[in-house]
Amino acid sequence: MMMKDIENREAINDMARELLRLMAAGTTHMVDDVRRVPAGDYLDEERFRTERTKLFRETPLVVAFTAELREPGSFKLHEETGVSVLVVRNEQGQAKAFVNACRHRGAKLTEEPCGKQKRFTCPYHAWSFDLNGALASLPANNLFGDVDKATLGLVELPCEERHGMIFAVLTPGAVMDLDSFLSGGEDLLRGWHLERNTLVGRRDLETRANWKLALDSYCENYHFHVLHSADFSYKVKNCAHHVRFGDKGQHWYLAWPSKSLEELRNVPESEWQDVHSHFSILHFIYPNTIMALYPETLSVKQLYPGASVAEQNTKMAFFSREADPSEEVKQLIQNRFDVFYKVLQQEDYWVCGGAYKNLESGMLPEILFGRNEPALTWLHDALDEGVGVKPAEKVREIIAA
Ligand code: FES
Ligand SMILES: [Fe+2]
Repeated sequence: MMMKDIENREAINDMARELLRLMAAGTTHMVDDVRRVPAGDYLDEERFRTERTKLFRETPLVVAFTAELREPGSFKLHEETGVSVLVVRNEQGQAKAFVNACRHRGAKLTEEPCGKQKRFTCPYHAWSFDLNGALASLPANNLFGDVDKATLGLVELPCEERHGMIFAVLTPGAVMDLDSFLSGGEDLLRGWHLERNTLVGRRDLETRANWKLALDSYCENYHFHVLHSADFSYKVKNCAHHVRFGDKGQHWYLAWPSKSLEELRNVPESEWQDVHSHFSILHFIYPNTIMALYPETLSVKQLYPGASVAEQNTKMAFFSREADPSEEVKQLIQNRFDVFYKVLQQEDYWVCGGAYKNLESGMLPEILFGRNEPALTWLHDALDEGVGVKPAEKVREIIAA
């Protein structure tokens, strides 16, 4: 059998080695101190507006996955930020992002969530645009009057495809520097070959809460054996390996062991097989993308601010890591996805909604992240810096364990 994720073998073994060490010591990675987050960070309207601009208009976002836009002409709508973005693969195979707005009178060119076509023809007066966004035809041009068609292409947004993800900044003309944005994490991301994945399903997760409170649910495993005791009791309690990356340390990945990892303890590393089957790997791509990666599947959760500070929008997508999975494999993945969905919706998002009501009541001054929840501290330090709140005085590296 072919070894899975051969290019990340070394990184996977490093994670396994560190997890075994932590398990033997009965501990986890920690930061230096408890982090306090004022309740207002989740309630403040002005901060909310700043987040929508700084984090969702001026920061690179994963707007699609390569697996969602396989063929030339395939497209996906990305509207969760309030900007209707048309992500398209052109005839040359490049990913492009355009504002989904006709240059005549602004109508949406399409309302289909995804699809495949050679041109986008406006439903209003049939102006049509090619896959590079150029205005290809303007019906009754002689009657319409004198306009320079060359200047009336779709509004284009900076867009670049990397490691199976399509990034865009939702500000025309912005500079997107993915080399620095993803620095330190690219080898690992490349090694997963996310571009080979196949989309199996999508679903939304619902709760009434600020988007950051929902995002917090994904950043620690301290709650697994309590909130998810029925489902995740096979995980090792309070044990996780943490690594941050990116030019500002804004992204990270975590590894969470299953009890079965112990089976490797007395096996020489040269004989380790299917190492990754003994732990979960969770990536966070700042500011809003969570990817849970397993040998056979990838699940993606993307969290967005809703219409108000008290509303969020979570889009979940589930992929097979095979390029062409059989119907049987797809069904197995769908079943697994249904379990994850149920746990997240009925447990994590239920708790989140209740906690948000409590924050809204104004009775709580703050919430706390423990030393054993480093990724939460990192997340909120990065978000604070992203919105221009004074950053934490020191970068909080893992210092204990
Ligand atoms: S608004 Fe699109 S053709 Fe008129
Ligand atoms: Fe959870």
